[in-house]
Amino acid sequence: MNKITVIGAGNVGATCANVLAHKDLAREVVLLDIKEGLAEGKALDIWQTSSINHFNTRVVGSTNDYAKTKGSGIIVITSGLPRKPGMSRDDLIKTNAGIVKEVTEKAIKYSPDAIVIVVSNPLDVMTYAAFLAAKTDPHKVFGMAGILDTGRYKAFLANALNTSPDDIQAMLLGGHGDTMVPLPRYTTVSGIPVTELLGSDEIEKIVDRTRKGGGELVALMGTSAWYAPGAAVAQMVEAIVDDQKRIFPVCAHVNGEFGLKDLFIGVPVKLGKKGVEEIIEIKLNQEERNLLTASADSVKNVMNVLDDLKLF
Ligand code: NAI
Ligand code: 2OP
Repeated sequence: MNKITVIGAGNVGATCANVLAHKDLAREVVLLDIKEGLAEGKALDIWQTSSINHFNTRVVGSTNDYAKTKGSGIIVITSGLPRKPGMSRDDLIKTNAGIVKEVTEKAIKYSPDAIVIVVSNPLDVMTYAAFLAAKTDPHKVFGMAGILDTGRYKAFLANALNTSPDDIQAMLLGGHGDTMVPLPRYTTVSGIPVTELLGSDEIEKIVDRTRKGGGELVALMGTSAWYAPGAAVAQMVEAIVDDQKRIFPVCAHVNGEFGLKDLFIGVPVKLGKKGVEEIIEIKLNQEERNLLTASADSVKNVMNVLDDLKLF
């Protein structure tokens, strides 16, 4: 790919740009931020690792100059406030909705064919806001959360099982919040159902820790996570650039799938060069369906706050 833009050169954006450069997925990664000099400084720092880490991707910084992002194939949006201890992701909406709208409109003007990946919180609703601002096909706008949430789930399972996280396959549904729905029934360890390897109490504890995984890190660090989020976005970018047709949980637009209408929420998708190429409607039992409905209701409540802001 010729160019990838990452908007927001804070913790997640800079980490994402760094991983993208390491993976050599584009000729150029443009890192853009509103804070004078921040993106240029971080881009220069990353580029100065190129001979040490053996990559060729040029990493370029920009203070709010969108002309530098012209012709990007993918735009990653990480700009906005992260949460502080005591805050939920939903508390961020009033500030972040305006930021996501503004940066999407400016970036899409220079790259009208780009795929947009949203990271800013509250994730599901910010993805909807980016979709409205981009005025593009729904399969070209989606959000990163499920790869991060399953990454946490797999890490906790690998510890409990004393096994390689690489051998764990897992799926998860729902919004990126404490109502997310990890799916033990769709979790295997090298093909072995996890339900045969761990007791239901132990699985439930891991599911609960996964749901609260973001908050655990905020409590430890005073701000939210960045290494796993940055790497998770880069994995999505890689699937698109290399047209891998990987199946990931992604915050995508549903319109009838899983009985949900006109909402962005975490579902299993096939990711390739066209973006979300398919939503995979796996079978759910009644309990899983109820949990997904509750999660969708919580996303809809935050959507109502977005509507009340009258930005669109
Ligand atoms: P951060 O504060 O380190 O970085 C955010 C950056 O956005 C700052 O450098 C700021 O100057 C920039 N920014 C603000 N307004 C801007 C504008 N109008 N134009 C360009 N840049 C602007 O925050 P961090 O930790 O990088 O988190 C970023 C966002 O990602 C937060 O909303 C956070 O909640 C969310 N997040 C989402 C995750 C997910 O799984 N979807 C995981 C981790 C974070
Ligand atoms: C996380 O889950 C804050 O959404 C971010 O770490």
